[in-house]
Amino acid sequence: MTSQMAQRLDGKALAQQTQGELKQRIETLKAQVGRSPGLAVIMVGDDPASEVYVRNKKRACEKVGIISFGKHFPANITQAELEATIHELNEDPEIDGILVQLPLPKHLDAPQVIYQITPDKDVDGLHPNNLGRLAREEPGIRSCTPAGVMRLLETYNISVTSKKALVIGRSSLVGKPLGLMLLEANATVTIAHIYTPPEELKELAQQADILCVAVGKPNLITADMVKPGAVVIDIGINRIEGEDGKVRLTGDVDYPEVEKIASYITPVPGGVGPMTVAILLENTVASFEQRCF
Ligand code: GUN
Repeated sequence: MTSQMAQRLDGKALAQQTQGELKQRIETLKAQVGRSPGLAVIMVGDDPASEVYVRNKKRACEKVGIISFGKHFPANITQAELEATIHELNEDPEIDGILVQLPLPKHLDAPQVIYQITPDKDVDGLHPNNLGRLAREEPGIRSCTPAGVMRLLETYNISVTSKKALVIGRSSLVGKPLGLMLLEANATVTIAHIYTPPEELKELAQQADILCVAVGKPNLITADMVKPGAVVIDIGINRIEGEDGKVRLTGDVDYPEVEKIASYITPVPGGVGPMTVAILLENTVASFEQRCF
């Protein structure tokens, strides 16, 4: 039997390579400027998933030579206190990037919190100014996860021009900016979401040359929904408990079945996740350079 398995898009390896390059760039810059780039990482409450992401981001900073300033607040912090912290960080000359780990506890107004970050330090690319720049195809800080997806596609020479791209998920963090980036790269873009009827979702998915899923539902995408030869980008991260009681990570795609049909596929973990971190570090260094030169 000649089964043609999809090629894995190895985000882990690409992120490591990117971080190696950044480390060298930072060493050179540090010698010129006399300080290291600084990233403030704000976390509120004790969401276990957020704790893992924040730890990964801080570790990655350490590896490449970015100083991370962790700010961990109790879940009952007020909107005013959180905003005041951001205002201080905006003025701090040692800080080049400010990241607020999402989601925030319900009593806080997350868009309003992000709005307080000065756009030049918004290394997550979530401020309306940066999202607006993306919508207008102007230079600006691009959001990390969708930029990580685009970097993976570019690195593997996967052309997007004139392709049918389906993005499932319409969040401001991933779905919408990814749709805009694919559009900027000349794809024909459709965005599906929670109100897209399941039968219609299936039809749209079956037509997609590039299928990007950012929903947070294990096995949402099954093999019968995938066009043969499609590029499948799994942006879901789900924690599920196995029969052995151990928690493991899985995406939104039925990987073992879909890899038999797709041409390229991202694994979870080791696909898009590490790329989010790599782009965050790149954005921080770019902001550092912009501020120093
Ligand atoms: N929560 C899940 N992913 C992200 C991310 O990329 N940035 C922030 N700030 N919060 C997140």
